[in-house]
Parts: sequence; structure tokens; C-alpha cells
Amino acid sequence: MTNLRTRRQVLRAGAIVAGSSLIAGCHSTALMHTAPPLAVGGESSLRFHAASAGLLFGCAVDVAALRRDPEYARLIRQQCSIIVAENCMKWSNIEPERDRFRFEDADALMAFAEKNRIKMRGHTLVWHEQLPAWLEKEVVPENAQQLMVAHIRKMCSRYSGRIHSWDVVNEAVDPKDGRPDGLRNTPWLQSLGPEYIETAFRAARAADPSALLTYNDWGLEDETVENEDRRRAVLLLIRRLRARNVPVDAVGIQSHLRAGVRGAQYGSGLKRFIAALRDLDLQVFLTELDVDDSRAPAGEAARDAAVVEATSSYLSAALADPSVRAVLSWGISTRHTWLKERYRNPITRGLPFDDTLQPLPMFAAIRDSFSNAVARPQDKGVRPPARTANAPGDVQQPHLPSLR
Ligand code: G3I
Repeated sequence: MTNLRTRRQVLRAGAIVAGSSLIAGCHSTALMHTAPPLAVGGESSLRFHAASAGLLFGCAVDVAALRRDPEYARLIRQQCSIIVAENCMKWSNIEPERDRFRFEDADALMAFAEKNRIKMRGHTLVWHEQLPAWLEKEVVPENAQQLMVAHIRKMCSRYSGRIHSWDVVNEAVDPKDGRPDGLRNTPWLQSLGPEYIETAFRAARAADPSALLTYNDWGLEDETVENEDRRRAVLLLIRRLRARNVPVDAVGIQSHLRAGVRGAQYGSGLKRFIAALRDLDLQVFLTELDVDDSRAPAGEAARDAAVVEATSSYLSAALADPSVRAVLSWGISTRHTWLKERYRNPITRGLPFDDTLQPLPMFAAIRDSFSNAVARPQDKGVRPPARTANAPGDVQQPHLPSLR
């Protein structure tokens, strides 16, 4: 009995090949022959193709999955030159009760990154979500700054010299809140006024002089009026911070894309925004790339085509600007992704690898975008060399079961 693959498997292989911008004509032959599995390791990996263009590529990591899923850990080591904690560095995870800290997961992820010579992003210091319950009860204008700065100092000093970049403030704009400055009406703004953002960045710089300090936000990607309004608000914020010499080094564009949805086009508004950030001498990171395909056309091939179209058009527009220096997907595989729960979409295909850790067409779309990207100049204006992990005075890390 020859090893005949089902038409669906052959079509899937053909879709991957077609999605990788190889000669689409071979699609017809794929019906007669089984396409060879797509090469994803070594010089075919996303980190290798990214490096060829002077970029970093990586993903958000679910540390619990990293501990229990060696194949997931292997894939991250194979594909990533930078990673970010999906949740374990958020305040609610670090300090679930006041003055009771849980660093085990963050320390283990930091150790995994350093052991595998992968850079580490910190996410996130000041946000209005995932705040510990005790803080939401106890924070008042009189103690808000002390609590916020103490948290920033605790996180930044613990990993000082070891973090590539921190998302210092996350999602601080929302023009729909109706403020002239476009800021979101968060508990931090209510307690401290707009100055909380400057205070946060200055505290982070003081606690870790070597990390690239990043402002991170979503809804900056497509050509809708809403996204243009959000881009305008972020630029207004960044320009005000720069005018006060606040230490901001980069902007993170979260890059949560939508497939098969009217209005989800990517182009001139995004390019103008990134150019304006470049003119402010900022680096740009695409920090949380994934594709919500819950409203894509039915059928795997149509869904894949919509994901590839969104990914390719977005990355082609963004990577045209050399100030974009890193691309991280929000998860590496659909085995561990927020997309399934958030969009009630258990069959999502909006990441580079599927539930079985096999490449989806999005893998080739990202890889080809890197191959077609303009090469970046060598790192300019990066923070001074990070202190070695064992510099005197470093907080000694408790022995932790090392992740693979
Ligand atoms: O760990 C607990 C578990 O013990 C408990 O049983 C379970 C009950 O619901 O909750 C688990 O915590 C969940 C956590 O993810 C870990 O899975 C939280 O409820 C859930 O709210 C949290 O969602 C995270 C979300 O941020 C929080 O807003 C997502 O995983 C994470 O992908 C998402 O990431 C954000 C970025 O940080 C910022 N940009 C947007 C992005 C997507 O929302």
C-alpha cells in the first residue's frame, strides 16, 4: 500500500509551498507527488532569515508550557533570537499579595534565555490590566507613585543588564476616552495625571541603564480611521516625552492583525507612522504579531490565504523602514495562544506553527518577508553594553530547575 496522503494533506503541503512564494505552478504537481516537508531549521529558520536582514525574531513564551512541553521549548530555541514573557513578568503574577513576590517563573524564563543565548524582552511594567487584586483595592492618589516606582525598581534592578528592552508603559492611549491628549483614562492617570508615564520611564532608566525603554500599544497597524487616531495619539505622547528628554528608546507596535476583514489593509498610514518614529530617532519593534482569522473565509486553504495576505502585506509595509529592528509573534504555535480563547477560535491558523508544531503558511510568509526586507545597519545608538550577568551586586538568583 503506497503511502498515499489524503488530498487534504497534499493540499496543505501545496498551500504551504504556494504560501512560501515558491513557484506556485508546482501546486499542480503537488496533487501528483507529496511535497517534501518544509525546512524550518538552521538556515531555514525564522531567526536565521531575520538575522540576514539585521533583524531579531522571536515570540512570547508561556513559561508553564515551556516547563512541561520539551518540543515547544525546542521549537523556541530553534526559531528565536529574542523572547518575551507572555504573562509571568506581569504585576499580578509577580506580586499576587502585597510584599509577597513570585519570581520563580520570570527567573526561570530569564535563565532559559541566557542559557540558550536568546535576548529577553521585559513585559510589562505599567499597565491597567493584570494588576494584582490587592493593588486595585489599595491604590489611591497618595500612594500610587510610590507603589508604581517601587514595582519598576524591583523588576528592573532584578534583571538589570540582562534585558534587551522593557515595555515600560503598555496601552496608555485611547482617543475614545475623549481627552485632548488622547490618553486612556487608566487608574494610573486618575491617580497621578499624565506625568505617570514620564515618571515610569525615568524610574526604569535609573534601575536598568542598559535596557531599551519601550512604549508598547495596539491598534496602530491598519488604515482605519480608528487606527489613524491612535497613531496620532501615540505620536503626540512620544513627542511630548521627547520634548522633556524623557528616556524613551523605542515604540512597540503590537501587530495583532485581522484576516479576511474589510478595512484590515496595511500600508501608507503605518509607513508614515514608522517614518515619524524614525525621525524621532526611535527604534520600532513589532512586539505581538499574530492574526485573528476567526472571520476569515471558511475552509483551510481560504483561511491560510487570508492569513498569508495579512501577514505579507503588513510585514512588507513595516519592514520597508530600517528603524524596525525586531519582530516577535505572540506565541510561536497555535498549541499555546490567546487567540483560541479570546476569539473563540479553536482552529486558528494565525501563528507560524500549528498545534502539532508543524509550519503553517504564516511561517513562510514571515520568512519571505525577512528575505525581502532591506538590510538594517548595524545596531546604532543601542544602550551601553549590558553588564555581565554576574556583575558584583547582582541579586543572586535562587537555584531554579533549569528549563531545557
Ligand atoms: O494562570 C491563571 C490560572 O491559574 C487560572 O485558572 C485561570 C482562570 O481563568 O487564569 C489564568 O490566568 C490567565 C492568564 O492569561 C494565563 O493564562 C488570566 O486569567 C488571563 O486574563 C491571562 O490573559 C492574558 C492577557 O494578556 C491578560 O490580559 C493572555 O494570556 C495574554 O496573551 C495577553 O497578552 C496581552 C499582552 O500582555 C498585551 N497586549 C495584548 C495581549 C493580548 O491580550
